[in-house]
Amino acid sequence: MHTTSIPPLLPTYAPYPFPLLRGEGDRVFDEAGTAYWDFYGGHCVCATGHAHPRVVQAISAQAAQLIFYSTAAQLPVRDQAASALLAFANEGLADPLASVFFCNSGAEANENALKIAAKLTGRTRFTSFRGGWHGRSTLALSVTDDPKLRMGLETFLAPVDFLPFGDEAALANVNLGQSAAVILEPIQSMAGIRVASGSFLRALRKACDASGTLLIFDEVQTGMGRLGKPFAANFFGVTPDLITSAKGLASGIPMGAVLMTEAIAAALKPGDLGSTFGGGPLASAALLATLAVILDENLMARASEVAQRLRTELVGSVVSKVEGEGLLLGLRVPSGAAGFKQHLLTHHILAGGSGDPDVLRLMPPLNLSDAAVEALVIAVRAFTA
Ligand SMILES: Cc1ncc(COP(=O)(O)O)c(C=O)c1O
Repeated sequence: MHTTSIPPLLPTYAPYPFPLLRGEGDRVFDEAGTAYWDFYGGHCVCATGHAHPRVVQAISAQAAQLIFYSTAAQLPVRDQAASALLAFANEGLADPLASVFFCNSGAEANENALKIAAKLTGRTRFTSFRGGWHGRSTLALSVTDDPKLRMGLETFLAPVDFLPFGDEAALANVNLGQSAAVILEPIQSMAGIRVASGSFLRALRKACDASGTLLIFDEVQTGMGRLGKPFAANFFGVTPDLITSAKGLASGIPMGAVLMTEAIAAALKPGDLGSTFGGGPLASAALLATLAVILDENLMARASEVAQRLRTELVGSVVSKVEGEGLLLGLRVPSGAAGFKQHLLTHHILAGGSGDPDVLRLMPPLNLSDAAVEALVIAVRAFTA
């Protein structure tokens, strides 16, 4: 019998004050059937919206055919998913990426990308950025600038130099010669939606090339069409050596991916990387369906169009500035984001906080409806700090 006041499910996040039962498109529904506009997107995951019929159909059909087999077997659906993801990611890239390793989460993708960099360069330091957030596993946490998460674990963490984000001048004075990899979110999300400039990313690419350091874009949030382009690499026109992805990859079926150049893939031997569940048939089928929906329904164009509308309609209200690109947006609310987030909830709108107390994050499905935008605009205009 359960006798303590400790809940059976260990608390992690402070959840919304109502359980959710169902999702459809850009809305989720609680037990009473009340609908909420989902500008949080299940934490930037639900790129194609909730229960998109094509994703549901693909998962159901795959489940009926083969729910799981590990990489001990070749699976056509996994091969197709890898090829489709590369074709999607390589749009317009000067140096196309050649191979994908599938895993299950963003942290696992970053862990593997950093491990690859250490193995291939023989170096044991990494370079990251102030405000960077890359996950909770050991190497991912090593490059994460979050003292709360690192506390008590310092002895296990790899040596990392944290540079000021987006600071091209500071970059000029840095020696990357000891660094296996530089990792960054091209748009820092948790830090409060801070956008790197194309010029900064190009300078970083140059610095990495000059010192034999691998460049990793953590695109766990910026990828899968969210910026109006397949990945931030396409958006900024800068090709890293490795892209890590997760969240929106498979519309909510857990999946992570490391995309890499031909040179890196050629240097890895079978057995260097592995994962029991990585690229399982359900996740692979969901990824294929997700890519098809994004392309067939022009969701990248939709993301850019909605973002433009939000920018025009929200600035000048309680929102002093809309930061970010595409549908990875930060609303700067000088009176504080917490009260504003609470206000939006009373208007049945879900949004996300950030590490910046004045920034509220929006990371909704890419197929956000006009009705959702209108509901947000009305709610924002109704706010009095
Ligand atoms: C930029 C970024 N990288 C990595 C992660 C870790 O992903 P996961 O929670 O899937 O391990 C997150 C999660 O929020 C993230 O935002």
